[in-house]
Amino acid sequence: MPAMAAEPPAFDFPELAAGVDEHLHVAEGYEAQVLLRWGDPLFPDVPAFDPTAQSAEAQDKRFGYNNDFVGFIPIGGRADRGLLVVNHEYTNAELMFPGLGASDRKGVIAALSPEQVAIEMAAHGGSVVEILYENGRWAPVIGSRYTRRITANTPMTLTGPAAGHPRLTTAADPEGRRVEGMINNCSGGVTPWGTWLSGEENIHYYFQGALPEGHPEAGNAKGMGMGSPQYAWGRFHERFDLSKNPNEPNRFGWVVEIDPFDPGSMPRKRTALGRFKHEGAAGVTAGDGRYVVYLGDDERFQHVYRFVSAGRVGATRAENSTLLDSGTLSVARFEADGTGRWLPLTHGQNGLDATNGFASQADVLIETRRSAKLLGGTPMDRPEDIEANPRTGRVYVMLTNNTKRTPEQTDAANPRAANAFGHVIEITPDGGDHVSENFRWEVLVRCGDPARPEVKATFSALTSPDGWFGMPDNCAFDSSGRLWIATDGNNRRATGRADGIWAVETEGPRRGTSKHFLQVPVGAEMCGPCFAPDDRTFFVAVQHPGEPDEEGALGSFEKPSTRWPDFSPDMPPRPSVVAVTRKGGGRIG
Ligand code: FEO
Ligand code: CA
Ligand code: CA
Ligand code: CA
Repeated sequence: MPAMAAEPPAFDFPELAAGVDEHLHVAEGYEAQVLLRWGDPLFPDVPAFDPTAQSAEAQDKRFGYNNDFVGFIPIGGRADRGLLVVNHEYTNAELMFPGLGASDRKGVIAALSPEQVAIEMAAHGGSVVEILYENGRWAPVIGSRYTRRITANTPMTLTGPAAGHPRLTTAADPEGRRVEGMINNCSGGVTPWGTWLSGEENIHYYFQGALPEGHPEAGNAKGMGMGSPQYAWGRFHERFDLSKNPNEPNRFGWVVEIDPFDPGSMPRKRTALGRFKHEGAAGVTAGDGRYVVYLGDDERFQHVYRFVSAGRVGATRAENSTLLDSGTLSVARFEADGTGRWLPLTHGQNGLDATNGFASQADVLIETRRSAKLLGGTPMDRPEDIEANPRTGRVYVMLTNNTKRTPEQTDAANPRAANAFGHVIEITPDGGDHVSENFRWEVLVRCGDPARPEVKATFSALTSPDGWFGMPDNCAFDSSGRLWIATDGNNRRATGRADGIWAVETEGPRRGTSKHFLQVPVGAEMCGPCFAPDDRTFFVAVQHPGEPDEEGALGSFEKPSTRWPDFSPDMPPRPSVVAVTRKGGGRIG
């Protein structure tokens, strides 16, 4: 871990006013270029996007929906040419297709056609897009040999301790090693060997049907929240019907590793990193060369995890091709005195054995949540992104909210009951060592409006009325080690402001000060922030623009809350990746 550098430079951008409207706003002196929109052709032979003439076949070759994680992998060490790897987490059918929006979610599920479902499946997954900065603008390289779409149908292989286990087998795959596709890929990470890690999150939404009481997988299915489908896929595809394929859900909920430099390579679901509702998979190489991945399970009262590889990071991609298949997964326990411990999820130890129904490490990993609870991991307020500061080595945990926590359930690490606005925890590994068993921790900031005493927010007093936020979700560090946070859940009613990006001081007397940098269009959440290696471009992902400006309501293709980014009456809103640069050039912030 690098020694603590001098205090990083202060954020020098003029703060953006907070608010909500149909447009994207960025701090004065910066510009935002829409780089990739849902439906944009990624291959040379694809016609321009027409929302009234969609097909699954064409969607397979277009940029997918609801961009979430964004990673930039330089080509040849360049900051102006690289592969953008992007997760397409989910789809909003009611915003994508005409005629669906008037009903509720059940109505949408009932109304979708097989072809529309096929389009949804093709709009999930991820994209690999080569991008180039030329003449003051970023542009995708159409015809690049790296271009790839990964969808809910792309063949993938399961690797690691659970691969091939009987609980991962289905009639279509008696070997338990080959899966069709990845779904609900939220955040992720990029490894030092140039691969992309992508976390499968809310997989329960895709499965319909129920298991009979007493079925061996019934408890596991319940533990992952099965039983309230939000998609129609199971109507047309038996693999998404639990009653017909009770093991199919066990093949989702993993971290997927993808080699973006080899478009023919098969993505690998790395079972050693556990099965839960994976938010992200940001990693760091420890001092001794082992690779460490920090992992959040985004649901109320779920856990923070850490994976440490058994082997060390090698010099080539080939050497690292099985690095994430063996190692130790641990769950975090936060103590009231500001210390904490990583508790290993190792079969045969501390109750993870036959007495609790775990016959092998595969069982421990397939039911990671139950294992973590048995060990005494701390139930958190929805752990989202977790990232290590490259300068200080301290680790930041975005805890987005948990309105269900009762006063009796509060603890030092989750100190607010009915936590509507979330908080950020800072972890300091003992000895600055990411593989250490012990750590110290403190709350960096409790989010929400500091002017409302009942909220008990703790932004520093230097934070302006535009500078505070709620619901931290994604985060990124620039190369000076400065923290930038993206939010999910701000709206007119909750906070009087749209989601966006806030820059947060972690060092020195300004620690806990937050400053507003970017605002997304109404209905959208902010995902994927990622800096180019020279800090001169900040890539951000605008997800589900056009939803109604409150939780739970359905939007529609005909009457979205905004038509960003095209503002054409014939075009629905489109989730897009945006490249933010400084006017006249220079480092962001
Ligand atoms: Fe997909 Fe945890 O947000
Ligand atoms: Ca999201
Ligand atoms: Ca997220
Ligand atoms: Ca979220």
